[in-house]
Formats: sequence, structure tokens, C-alpha cells
Amino acid sequence: MPTTICDKEQLPIMNDYNDSETLYAARRHEVLFSGNIPESDRPVYHLPARIGWMNDPNGFSFYQGKYHLFYQYYPFDTKWGPMHWGHAVSADLLHWTHLPAALAPDQPYDDYGVFSGSAIVLSDGRHLLMYTGVKKIGKNPDGSVDSRQTQCIAFGDGVNYFKYEGNPVIDADQLPEGLDPQNFRDPKIWAGDDGLFHCIMGACNIVDRDDLASGQILQYKSRDCINWEFECVLSENNYRVGSMWECPDTFELDGKQVLLVSPQDMLAVGDEFASGNGTLALIGHLDPETGALVEESMQAIDYGIDFYATQTILSPDGRRIMVAWMQNWDCISMGGRRSWFGQVTVPRELSVRDGRLYQWPVRELESIRKNKVAYKGVPVSGELKLDGISGRIIDLTVTVRPEDVENPYHEFTIWFAQGDQFRSSVRFSPAERMIKINRKHSALRRAVVKDRKCVLVNYDGTLRLRILLDRFSAEVFVGDGEQTLTMTILTDPVFDGISFFADGCAVMDVEKYDLA
Ligand code: FRU
Repeated sequence: MPTTICDKEQLPIMNDYNDSETLYAARRHEVLFSGNIPESDRPVYHLPARIGWMNDPNGFSFYQGKYHLFYQYYPFDTKWGPMHWGHAVSADLLHWTHLPAALAPDQPYDDYGVFSGSAIVLSDGRHLLMYTGVKKIGKNPDGSVDSRQTQCIAFGDGVNYFKYEGNPVIDADQLPEGLDPQNFRDPKIWAGDDGLFHCIMGACNIVDRDDLASGQILQYKSRDCINWEFECVLSENNYRVGSMWECPDTFELDGKQVLLVSPQDMLAVGDEFASGNGTLALIGHLDPETGALVEESMQAIDYGIDFYATQTILSPDGRRIMVAWMQNWDCISMGGRRSWFGQVTVPRELSVRDGRLYQWPVRELESIRKNKVAYKGVPVSGELKLDGISGRIIDLTVTVRPEDVENPYHEFTIWFAQGDQFRSSVRFSPAERMIKINRKHSALRRAVVKDRKCVLVNYDGTLRLRILLDRFSAEVFVGDGEQTLTMTILTDPVFDGISFFADGCAVMDVEKYDLA
């Protein structure tokens, strides 16, 4: 953790807005220490924790002309601790300005943590945050913390937020029978076309400690955001995909109803789902009688390593844009020696085509591209480097086809973050239609997940990959965005080499831009 002290003039003042000592301590810590983190130690167009620890993005909203993104936050260490909400704003979804921490665990009903939630703008101009308050009750017989989760709200002006004096607004007694008051969280709120507010959250059944629970997504409705009434069960896991479903989000897109969730304790299923904490998109339509989601298809949202806890916004120009925590609980021990841990993915525009969720980097990214370098029809056989194709903060598109369709190449690899003993990779094997990302040589000092793969859902003989690199991450968009693979890397950004390799004869087009 940093040791030097920066400008004391900026220290927050205890005033009407932040008269919580816990929030004051967090804001003070931010001012004293976050300035010590050199810009070169942070990503350029991904939001990282201001200082300390970040997990889920929260409260993704557009308020007073800016995008607001909050996040699960523990400023005092790079490990998870009593959750606060960090806060940042951006005009373009790419360059973020950190604001003072917005919420702290300072009330009897949220003393164990201000867990995930969402935000909306009220018609009177106030910004409303809805979150899960976690209260510590004691210890379970096995030593774990016994807690209760309830849903709470706070009102604010874009910088300072007051918790509602009548919190919680949804208590355990509003849970359907048999559901677990220790696992009832992550409200996603929206204003419906019916003039009512609605919210969904994750819940699960009560089980013996050694058993796995099964998630449910509960929907509530309200006229005023304060008095809530149970509406329906939007979706049930029924022990199909993992256990508890966290961080739900639902919206209509391209004529379909989409539900995004992050299941815990997943079992690997073929090449679709990997073990551990993962992500799941359910696509279908709503049953007009019950309000429940009638599923038509399901898929993983991202096939990489570091991707969890998605949240979306409907942008003012009507785009459904998704972000996620660009990290995963299964790999939080991956280490790194920085004073921050955790970043948010690049915001991705969503669409649904043929029952599949497509993702594409927000179009704002095109306006920060510069220094275009392009090649067309380059033969690749063995390893090849190209003049001007290198960098760690870049937007790289590579299109690959066999030189001879009758005699296709066996493997095509892009090495990046390359230098000394380091290199990270994306590899394609046409016979298996398989894409694999690999970070074995990406400066990780812990034995966490090193590779992940997926089988292409669309492949007509030409492979198209768009790869976004920032200082500590790689996001791979396959084809038109029908599949994505995301991972973080720890390689020092000075290692910025890129090379291409084909086992056999391939021909490629390459287009590269620096991003600023
Ligand atoms: C998901 C999650 C949420 C919870 C938060 C706590 O990553 O477990 O369900 O609200 O993190 O930090």
C-alpha cells in the first residue's frame, strides 16, 4: 500500500453530506493515498478501483449529462473487505473521473457491507441508488459470518448520497417462503412502461450448510421506490446452472427478453460453461400471465477467464450497453503488486440475433483511435512480425483465411504482450473451430486459471478477431461479437511485442490503432 501523503488541502470536510465517520474515513483515505498511484500503473480506457479493491460494477446510469458507474469497493486494502460503493463519472464511457466514495457500511442494517445494486434517475431530479444492506448477526456454527440481507435505497445529487431513514425497503419478511434471508441481493431497478418501478434480485432456497442452493430471480414492484410488493419469480435455476444466481439484469432487446445472471458454483458443461463463478444469458419472452421468463436459449456471456457480475444501462440514444467486473472470484489470488485491484470491462453494445447475445465495444472507442497501421493479404507461414504492429493500448483487428482452402492451415496464433520470457496468446484451430486464450507467460505468480477456450458458433472459413488491449487486459471479440473472451494479464506494459504464427499457410489482413 502507498506510504506517502498527497495534498491535504483536498481532504473532505465533515459536513451535512458526509457526516458518517465510516464514509469520511474512506474519502479521506482516497484523498491521502490514491494520488500516489502513477497513471502509468493504471489502465487507460478501463475503470480501475480508485485505490484498494473493486468487484462488481453497480449503479450504471446516466445522470446530469454524464455516465455514472459505482462499484463494490474496499479502499483500505487490495482484498475484499466491508463493502463501500466507489464512484466514477465519464462523458464517453471510456475516460473515467473518480469521485468520492458514495456509500459506506455505516448503518445497523448494512454494517457488514453495502453490497451490489443499481441506480435510476427520479422525475424530481434526484439520483436513486438501490443496494443490498448486509447486517452481521453473529457466527454460524461453522465459524462463517451469519448475516441478513435486505434491500435499501439512498438519494443523492451525483456526488453525495443520503440513505433513506426508513431503510430497508425490502426486508426478509417479503421473501417467498423457503428462501434464504442470507442470500437475497443485488437489486436491479428500472422504471416500467406501466408507470411502476420494478426491481429484480437474486435469491435461493434454504439448504443445509453442506448442500448447494438453487437460485431464483425475484421481481418486486412499487409506485414510489419505497413501498415494494412481491410481483413474480422471473426465473428459476432448478439446479441447472450453478447454485445461487447473483447480479441479475433483465431487459427487452431486439424483440426478445434477456436475463443476465452470474451463477456461483458452476460445473463445466462441454465447452459452453467453465467451473466456478460464471455468467449466463437466458433469452426468451415473458409469459403474459405469470410474468416469468419463458426461455428459448441459453449461453455463457463471455468465454474468457476474468468476467463476472454484468450490469447494463439503456443509454440516452437507446443502446443497451453492458459492463462487467473484469476479474473473477476464482482468480482473485492472481496477485500483482499495485495499490489497486479490479477493473471494469470495456462497455459493450448488446444485440440479439438468431437467439444469441452479441457484444461489440461501444462506438465511442472509434473516436479515441489514432495512428492506423494496416496490411492486406499478408501470407503467414511460421512466425511473422510486422512493422508498426505492436503496443499494449491498442485496437487490433485480424482477419485470417487459409491460403489454399483445400489444404487449410492447422493453427493460427497471435502473440501479444511479448518480450523477454513473456507472451500472452489467442490461438485458433480451424479443425476444431476452437479459439483459446492463454496467459501462462503473462507475469502471474500464482497458479490461477491460465487458459480458456470456446468453439466458434459461426465459422465460414474466415476468422475475424477484434482484440482490445489495455495495460493489464485483453478482450477478444470473435466475428461480429457472437462470442467474447476476456482476461487480465500482469505483464509489464514495456513488453508490447506482437507476432503472428501459422502452422501451415494462412493469409491475413491486419488493422491496428493506438488508443488514447
Ligand atoms: C458478486 C457479489 C454480489 C454481492 C457482492 C459483494 O460478485 O457476490 O452478489 O452483492 O459481490 O461484494
